[in-house]
Amino acid sequence: MSLHVGILTAGGDCPGLNAVIRAVVRRASADDSLVLGIKNGWRGLVEDDLEPLTRAAVRGILPRGGTILGTSRANPLESAEHVARIKANWEKHRLDGLVVVGGDGSLRTALAMWREHGLRVVGVPKTIDNDIGGTDFTFGFDTAVGIVTEAVDRLHSTAESHHRVMVVEVMGRHTGWIAAYGGIAGGADVVLVPEHPFRLSKVCEIIRHRESQGSPFSIIVVAEDARPVPLENFLTDEASQQIYRHEQLGGIGDLLAREIERATGIQTRVTKLGYVQRGGSPSAFDRVLATRFGVKAYEMIAPTAPPRQRRSPSPSRRSLPSTRARSSRP
Ligand code: F6P
Repeated sequence: MSLHVGILTAGGDCPGLNAVIRAVVRRASADDSLVLGIKNGWRGLVEDDLEPLTRAAVRGILPRGGTILGTSRANPLESAEHVARIKANWEKHRLDGLVVVGGDGSLRTALAMWREHGLRVVGVPKTIDNDIGGTDFTFGFDTAVGIVTEAVDRLHSTAESHHRVMVVEVMGRHTGWIAAYGGIAGGADVVLVPEHPFRLSKVCEIIRHRESQGSPFSIIVVAEDARPVPLENFLTDEASQQIYRHEQLGGIGDLLAREIERATGIQTRVTKLGYVQRGGSPSAFDRVLATRFGVKAYEMIAPTAPPRQRRSPSPSRRSLPSTRARSSRP
């Protein structure tokens, strides 16, 4: 079995992308299949920017953040000419299939490429936001939660020393997964998520109550798309447009902090964690999940290809049940 399999990473980067690339290459090499790495998302397939990925090329990338292939948010469906160029390059490189590692936007594009243009594409869900339907967890999320948790832990000590309120703004797009997990893991006093518009009065009540109980400091974790209830909206239309821009969210933390300080009289500071949440080395959980996705994605393109046996198994190994059999037990 010798296939030609393309792989690209698209959309925002996240920890674990390199683990997927490595897994696809290593699993494919067991079949003597060739993996072609496509640069900068779909753009690489439009511009014919590809390179063969050998086992040597992916050596040592498992713990590395980002993506060795580069990424972009380019959407080829916006141009018929780009789709035609993708098809031409597909033929040129005799691709049998393509692994697209992307978030919701890139996976929608992947689906359309399969349904509308007949390309054999397998999608691998990735995002720190954990917001892709049909998944329990996406890789990148666990790492991001770890970073938020550490930040909240660190902010506790300085908040306590200065008797301050600390507002921590985190990513998550239109969902509150990162805020909820990071906030709970770090022991935040208030967690604000997009799924439940918040009352500023309630937030301030909690802060004042804590003060009255001898804890004149509080940690508030706010997701980037969290919004106040309409009746207690303290944002001008202009501020809302700035914060909830479709292409780039962010800024609610600053305005929330200003309002908290105004209402409670307690000094309030803001930490916007930003891109730190999706940079750097993936956690062990994300490395394992990403590796499993990579192996499975290749096997979905080459469903009948058993891993090539390099040597006969020893008698003791032969007697062990297969991983598949063990994991399918109730
Ligand atoms: O989807 C991941 C994410 O990091 C979101 O949490 C955030 O809103 C967005 O990407 C930021 O995107 P960009 O890289 O385009 O600024």
